[in-house]
Amino acid sequence: MRLLPGRRCARPGCPWNGKIRMTVPSSLFDQYERQARWRPVAATVQQLGPLEGKKVADLGCGSGHVARMFAARGAQVTGIDRDAELVALAARKAPGVHWVNADLSDPGTWGRSGFDIIWSSFTIAYAPDPTTWLKRWHAALAPGGRLILMDVGGLLDHEPIGEADRETIGHFCREAAQAGLYHFDAAERLVDWLEASGFDVLGETDLHDEELTFTGPAPPDVLAAWAARLARMPRLRAAASPGFTDRFLASLTHPDHRSHSRVRAAIGRRGRDAGRWAARGA
Ligand SMILES: C[S@@+](CC[C@H](N)C(=O)[O-])C[C@H]1O[C@@H](n2cnc3c(N)ncnc32)[C@H](O)[C@@H]1O
Repeated sequence: MRLLPGRRCARPGCPWNGKIRMTVPSSLFDQYERQARWRPVAATVQQLGPLEGKKVADLGCGSGHVARMFAARGAQVTGIDRDAELVALAARKAPGVHWVNADLSDPGTWGRSGFDIIWSSFTIAYAPDPTTWLKRWHAALAPGGRLILMDVGGLLDHEPIGEADRETIGHFCREAAQAGLYHFDAAERLVDWLEASGFDVLGETDLHDEELTFTGPAPPDVLAAWAARLARMPRLRAAASPGFTDRFLASLTHPDHRSHSRVRAAIGRRGRDAGRWAARGA
């Protein structure tokens, strides 16, 4: 853990009054573990019904908090992520889960298991071309198996923020999608992506996330999580004018703060055309 030194909220009447003391976990694993408590995951997992003995994959598992949740409910879980350090730490925390350090664009050996459930939260937005990944994930499901996607749209869409910063954010988001780095509109596109990849869509739902879709001033731990997120986004800081990070964090603590972000989950089933994508060798 480290304390952000000397960060001050310049705005008169800031609820945190003067120096904001923010403890920022120094490792990505610890940052993801802290974020996990705000994610609307448990209720969604609950709705999947009995999980005892089910073969489940958590794709882009990060610190493995969702994989652990499935394992605690009796599923045989495989957690997959391209970040070797995250996978190693996740394995230390939950040795009973099968952890794989691999890239999701290539199902390779992990994709041959015939999963009953594939879960992927806050990860499909990173796919350069989401339908290419999803067609491969479709083939990794057992017939009738389900894929649950959860993601955010408008991650940086917060008010109040100045016009110049808003334009910078809009431009940055469009460029990130064009460069195949990140889709800031992922939540809105989940269903379209599922349909285009051969899934029968069973439904979608909007969810509240205490860090991403909250209204009113951010509490210190949420603010610290945002400070850590902005620190992980050097391209955004480079694209913005000096002081962007402080202005963005001030927006999050403003009494009239509003998030226009959406967190959405969509569920698709491997249906009648099961095998079509596999047959094409996708
Ligand atoms: C925002 S985190 C989400 C972690 C976790 N699923 C959750 O809900 O908290 C996105 C994760 O996707 C992983 N990831 C992104 N692109 C990937 C790829 N091409 N292959 C494997 N993992 C990937 C990252 O390493 C990161 O751990």
